[in-house]
Amino acid sequence: MQPRPLLSLQSVSKSFDGVQALAEVSLELSDTGILGVIGPNGAGKSTLAGVIVGSLRPDSGRIFFLGREITGLPMRKRARLGIANTHQIPRAFPSLTVYENLELAVLHRADTDPRRQILETAELLGLQPVLQLKPSQLSHGQIRLVEISMALLSQPRLLVMDEPTQGLTGLEVNTLTEALKSLGEKISIIVIDHRVDFVASLSPRIAVMHRGRILALGSPRDSWVAEKIEEVYLRGGA
Ligand SMILES: Nc1ncnc2c1ncn2[C@@H]1O[C@H](COP(=O)(O)OP(=O)(O)OP(=O)(O)O)[C@@H](O)[C@H]1O
Ligand SMILES: [Mg+2]
Repeated sequence: MQPRPLLSLQSVSKSFDGVQALAEVSLELSDTGILGVIGPNGAGKSTLAGVIVGSLRPDSGRIFFLGREITGLPMRKRARLGIANTHQIPRAFPSLTVYENLELAVLHRADTDPRRQILETAELLGLQPVLQLKPSQLSHGQIRLVEISMALLSQPRLLVMDEPTQGLTGLEVNTLTEALKSLGEKISIIVIDHRVDFVASLSPRIAVMHRGRILALGSPRDSWVAEKIEEVYLRGGA
């Protein structure tokens, strides 16, 4: 018997004013591992993230998480089930220090030692030197790493990241790559990114999106997946 998938999308569609952003997308994720999602501007990547995290409601199709239907479930209830996300434009509370921002993410938890969790996560993402600074004193990349840390501190079972490398320096990308590789052994992660090399370094499972569809799902080392990548980026898609 096949194990129950963590997340399952069944023929999910979403349109905006006649533009089909998602067209009958079906997808399954297991409890651990990383799925990379690539595709050109407007392919439907953020819309896919939106219907999974609950910021968007699909027009048709169904979504299941842990065997339970979540298609119409509000975002905060999905968060409680263990779905966390980071945004294409990162967010952090401007009046709080980095440490206080991270503290917010653990407030609801019954841990005896949230401080240890905060410091461990800060270390994982290289944020220890800036813990007492405010977001206005950080680089764009560091704010992104704060948002990622907050998502991780909520102890998600599924983390959906929309373009996490945008604005990061090469060094920050390396830190993030290492952190995600080790996290992907414990939880399920969806990484949306334009950088095929970054996504390929994280995972052998990549979804190639174009015009609301997943055109290929597999390793970029497979020639047919590589061909689809070339097709959507270089030739504007099929
Ligand atoms: N809120 C919205 N209102 C109207 N149209 C939208 C909205 N969100 C997305 N779209 C349209 O849906 C399509 C898919 O958009 P989406 O943002 O999912 O693409 P994307 O793959 O994330 O692109 P990018 O790489 O630029 O972030 C595009 O044609 C976009 O213009
Ligand atoms: Mg997007």
